[in-house]
Amino acid sequence: MAQYIVGNWKMNGTKAEAEALAFTLAAKAKDVSGPLPHVVLCPSYPYLVPVLKILEGSTLESGAQDCSPEANGAFTGDVSVSQLSNIGCTYVIVGHSERRHHHLEPNALIRQKAEAVIRGKLKPIICIGETEEEYRAGKCFSVLSEKLEACLPSSCVHSDILIAYEPVWAIGTGLTPSLEEVEKVMSFLKERLRTHIPEGDLVPTLYGGSVNAANARLFLTLPYVDGLLVGGASLRADDFWHIIMATERQEP
Ligand code: PGA
Repeated sequence: MAQYIVGNWKMNGTKAEAEALAFTLAAKAKDVSGPLPHVVLCPSYPYLVPVLKILEGSTLESGAQDCSPEANGAFTGDVSVSQLSNIGCTYVIVGHSERRHHHLEPNALIRQKAEAVIRGKLKPIICIGETEEEYRAGKCFSVLSEKLEACLPSSCVHSDILIAYEPVWAIGTGLTPSLEEVEKVMSFLKERLRTHIPEGDLVPTLYGGSVNAANARLFLTLPYVDGLLVGGASLRADDFWHIIMATERQEP
């Protein structure tokens, strides 16, 4: 399965910085002769258009960090999937823990967003993860199972979606679960996906949370890890490029 490296730039940087980052990555990608993983850059809304312009003719793609579940109309401040599709976006992150926390987004809304993304022929990257409290209480698997079931779009096929496992306590903290824990969770998610979706184990499952240039390869070589969702390290061209190069395409 092709691997995915997704950069979530969050609410960072200026237009010039976003353009410079996209430009550097696109230039590096052009110099690669072999296949690259799917690389998806997710800048803030105002920088999507300039970043997409720079990515024209490149294999790098772009995604939004969120979307509205609504098609159009009086929804001040929101952005629809058709608007994202219209400018050339191909992915949308939904259910990121920062949206769940700061905007109190419930699973039902995240599911509606994911369904809207699929209707618009884009791909949702659906994020799920346990909090530190849930992790400590040994509830990781039950929480993930519940969130997955509640967020999965109805009647989707395996090629419609991506799932990102992001432990909330690992995001931006420098902490990560052990490799063994990640492998167990990812294997569990594949098994749960199989019960919900025909050939559900073919849904790409990404790990996210304090991924950096030094640990990326360790996660990427684990079974059931089909890619990475990267926050902080995706803002540094050299680090993010290192992470892209850590995918299996580099295997001897
Ligand atoms: P981080 O963020 O890599 O900075 O931990 C990951 C994310 O929020 O997607």
